[in-house]
Amino acid sequence: MKQLKATRRVLIGAGAAVAVGAAAFGASAFFKDRKPSEFNARLIVGSDTDNSIAVQWEGNGSWYLELRKSGSRDAKRFTPQPDSYTVKGRTYHLQTVRIAGLHPSTTYEYQITGPNDERSGWTAFRTSDLENCRALIFPDSQSNDRYKTWEGVYNGALGRTPDIDFTCNMGDLVDCGAWLDHWDYWFSAVKGGISRIPVAVVMGNHDTYDMDSKTRVAEPVMFLHSFPVPDNGSENFRRWYYTFDSGPVHFIVLNTEWQEADLLRPGLLSEKKTWFRNVASKTDKPWSVVLMHRDVLYYKIKGRKRANETFDEVGKELMPLFDEAGVDLVLTAHLHTYRRRDHIKAFARSEDGPLYIVTGVAGNIRYPDFWIDHPLDVKIAPQPETDNYLLLDATGQSLSLKTLLPNGNEIDSVTLTKNT
Ligand SMILES: [Fe+2]
Ligand SMILES: [Fe+2]
Repeated sequence: MKQLKATRRVLIGAGAAVAVGAAAFGASAFFKDRKPSEFNARLIVGSDTDNSIAVQWEGNGSWYLELRKSGSRDAKRFTPQPDSYTVKGRTYHLQTVRIAGLHPSTTYEYQITGPNDERSGWTAFRTSDLENCRALIFPDSQSNDRYKTWEGVYNGALGRTPDIDFTCNMGDLVDCGAWLDHWDYWFSAVKGGISRIPVAVVMGNHDTYDMDSKTRVAEPVMFLHSFPVPDNGSENFRRWYYTFDSGPVHFIVLNTEWQEADLLRPGLLSEKKTWFRNVASKTDKPWSVVLMHRDVLYYKIKGRKRANETFDEVGKELMPLFDEAGVDLVLTAHLHTYRRRDHIKAFARSEDGPLYIVTGVAGNIRYPDFWIDHPLDVKIAPQPETDNYLLLDATGQSLSLKTLLPNGNEIDSVTLTKNT
């Protein structure tokens, strides 16, 4: 009978885990059990998804986090780093715990407990394994429908592919970075997933936008405080760009918003270039993947006169670095269209160069019948475009991408291979 109870606890997961945790600490009637989403609990990738993670939640006062392997009663207690800031008259209190030294391919559970005996219940997450990487990539989620379209894209994708190591947002998470309602809607949309699957975020231009059209750009306070990504060692642009590993892939998250940053303080592009050369040359992972918001190509726009299709400023500045470092894949966003290009090296088609893909759109702000196809485009999403996301699967020998519509239908796929 005892054995049967133990088995049921494992099978029914988090709900049972709450009961086990309460018994372990002997005060179940005293705590006010609530869901992690009520604290806006979120997981952010650590420097390696197989052994590290950051947990952040909203709350003031003295909090702590407990962590244990799934099925174990032995929990380790962590004291979070508090962070308070005020933006547009609203004060946020955040608590962050960075956890390292985890075991790969292992399911852990965390529980957060507040100063007034609030308690989240045990929530499970899994570290990635050493040999594989599986992730969902979401293009711009900026929206004007209270992020309902984005909510459907995100949760639909997670429902179809629950066994992922992390999700990635390619920038322009929100339409205006200083508009707090947008962040409320964005976090509400992802609350079913972000408390148990870590996110990697890329900063987009809209994440830096102010509500005042005269100043246009403001310090992206919400973005920077809300996502404690791995440290990049920068004094002026901490959390603006970073790197992390997942299985056989070295991900380099770049920041293409140096025009916006220069309005705040100069130096983003030059320091990031130096940093890139350093981190790109040091990895021993088989695959190098760049994630960045702005694209590298100029497109002609229907009904408008514009310069010839060529490479834009981002492309001119960064593509030579990617050639030099031997980057395998460059994922971009910003254009709200899905287009797979050829491999490009030295600003021309070349099988030796990185593969470039602009990843599409995952919110409801779309540009239908807008872009004129570029000569380097190889595959384009069905027109007029709706929304899409990508599933990345990598082993040491292959890296594949599937591009999917919100209903799960596949519209493109590509596989890169290499001998290791
Ligand atoms: Fe965008
Ligand atoms: Fe953008």
